[in-house]
Amino acid sequence: MFEKYSTVNKKSSGILYGADYNPDQWIETPEIWDEDMRLMKLANCNVMTLGIFSWSSIEPQEGQFEFEWLDIIMDKLEKNGISVILATPSGARPAWLSEKYPEVLRTQANRVKNLHGQRHNHCFSSPIYREKVAIINRKLAQRYKNHPALIMWHISNEYGGDCHCAFCQDAFRNWLKNRYDNDLNKLNSAWWTGFWSHKFTSWEQIESPSPQGEIYIHGHILDWKRFVTHQTIDFYKAEITPLRELTPKVPITTNFMGNGYGDKSDFDLYEGLNYGEFAKKVDVVSYDSYPLWHIDNTLTWELATQVSFVYDACRCLKDGRPFLLMESTPSLVNWHKVNKIKRPGMNILSSLQAIAHGADSVQYFQWRKSRGGSEKFHGAVVDHCGHENTRVFRDVSKLGGSLKEINEIVGTSVKPEVAVIFDWENGWAIKEVQGITMDKKEYQSTCVNHYKAFWTNGITVDVIDMERDFSEYKILIAPMLYMIRPGVAERIEKFVNNGGTFITTYFSGMVDESDLCYLGGFPGPLRAVTGIWSEEIDSLYDSDCNAVIFSQNNKLGIKGEYKAKDLCEVIHAESAEVLAIYKSDYYAGMPALTVNNYGKGKAYYIASRNEQVFLKDFYNKLIEELKISKNLECNLPEGVTVQLRSDGETDYIFILNFSEDNKVIDVQSKEFIDMFSKEKIEENIIIEPYGIKIFKTGVYK
Ligand code: GLA
Ligand code: ZN
Repeated sequence: MFEKYSTVNKKSSGILYGADYNPDQWIETPEIWDEDMRLMKLANCNVMTLGIFSWSSIEPQEGQFEFEWLDIIMDKLEKNGISVILATPSGARPAWLSEKYPEVLRTQANRVKNLHGQRHNHCFSSPIYREKVAIINRKLAQRYKNHPALIMWHISNEYGGDCHCAFCQDAFRNWLKNRYDNDLNKLNSAWWTGFWSHKFTSWEQIESPSPQGEIYIHGHILDWKRFVTHQTIDFYKAEITPLRELTPKVPITTNFMGNGYGDKSDFDLYEGLNYGEFAKKVDVVSYDSYPLWHIDNTLTWELATQVSFVYDACRCLKDGRPFLLMESTPSLVNWHKVNKIKRPGMNILSSLQAIAHGADSVQYFQWRKSRGGSEKFHGAVVDHCGHENTRVFRDVSKLGGSLKEINEIVGTSVKPEVAVIFDWENGWAIKEVQGITMDKKEYQSTCVNHYKAFWTNGITVDVIDMERDFSEYKILIAPMLYMIRPGVAERIEKFVNNGGTFITTYFSGMVDESDLCYLGGFPGPLRAVTGIWSEEIDSLYDSDCNAVIFSQNNKLGIKGEYKAKDLCEVIHAESAEVLAIYKSDYYAGMPALTVNNYGKGKAYYIASRNEQVFLKDFYNKLIEELKISKNLECNLPEGVTVQLRSDGETDYIFILNFSEDNKVIDVQSKEFIDMFSKEKIEENIIIEPYGIKIFKTGVYK
């Protein structure tokens, strides 16, 4: 496979294990700091993320810096063998800053300026904010550049949102001028401003999208979102300038996140920033992970597939390089309607799930519960009782002990044969679509449904955006590839021509990067490779029903019919062969699944959204036909997946049981050692509910 990646933890070269640490909340009671050190060691922690929200403790008045408390903490951590990921504090600012320089306050899309308060709400363009952040970041780097505890920078916190102030409007216009070569005509054609007489005759007429203003030019919205990513990265670059200068060897990360705050079980990647772009600028990807385990009406393993999908995307953001699980809760969160505690076993399982997909750390939010503020009831390693005799603490400590047994996994990765395209800009464009179906678009969950068919087989999948190299995969899946940017269709054609198997679906090949429809027949630039023409898309009510029926003697050998729902595309096979047809409605008998031979490969087109068992049976056939290797050559029971990491010589096989029952796995090999028990394994193993096993190969060969 390949050699190990270098590790981020220069001190122990093992898996990082720790939490967000806010000792400045306990500045009046320094005895708590000493107790923290004792407890951290007891919890088997080796890292703390420090100073995320410490601006007002470090710079209580403008220009007056107080580092003494931080010096003490840095030294204490070092003395106790704990490394530090040091944060820059720009995620929340002191009141004096907002008071003296109101320009730093964010302006909402409705053009209302925020008051001081909360966090993650500064303007990304404000020169003063950038200046003040650069000053404090420089001071931090100057002071701690040689501190032995410092292993990494954590820039700000969960960058997100946008600002619509005058600075940001100017910056947006400049960004547009650059994108459209200073040519307003180019912008007018890209945005199709002839529609509703929206032609711009000067750059000054252009503003960011607003509920009181423009929200119906999709090219405009896409460009605004691109600009927000650009401006956030630009702000980040300004933040890291002094750090790169003073600490060129200290790696830099910023914590990526999900959308959060949902009532559903949806677990996802934040859609507001194109992480595909952002990841190019960080040394290490890190992710804050808060799946709502045990949520009502959702099978645990179904949620687990969504979580795995996101972790695989995190690993792929830097082409397979391990990422960090920067935040997770050891027990519960405080921001859901029903804040369910992780059941016994779940913290260990869900933490090791991240490791299984390529994380080199397990870190919690937070080390110690705060006494006040909105997060005082959010899970933490140390509860308000203050001692170690809690279920959660014991759990955390136990996991810390277990991680020590698997330290050698650090730096390993995986090279899957299968990839699913999940692309931010495509997601933005689908979200903005007016028409077809408004509340059943489900882009990310559709990608997860395709992914699931491999997860249940224990086959590792890469989750990539459409800019990545496709050439190494055997199977490339592009669900709902609505937007196709320049060059992408050509790379897909090349992939298939060279023998790859490509699968795409309804709602693909419809618009270019400006959300302008492809003319001449959908799926636009994918028409040649798929060999079909898509004429219409029908949206279905929940009460409507249709089905796809496999043709007799179809090459996949699948029989019977499957329910179709939500979206049915009416397509014509051109050069493609029909494998299944629609059962009813005026398009009964028309193609619902096709395959096109193209060069040495094949391209499948799934015209309708079908029940999950369709994807299961369809992909099982492809897995068989293309001899896709499973991480364990056996059939897995429901709720269990197998994931893999490797350094090219030794494979590390993770078997994870996300069900509430004991599961028996016929491993069919005795060549593995159990990394926790150190025992040679039996052929039939039992994995308890929420249980996990990690095997290592090469020991008994
Ligand atoms: C986010 C933040 C943390 C904390 C947690 C709570 O991930 O980064 O500061 O607020 O949420 O779940
Ligand atoms: Zn602004």
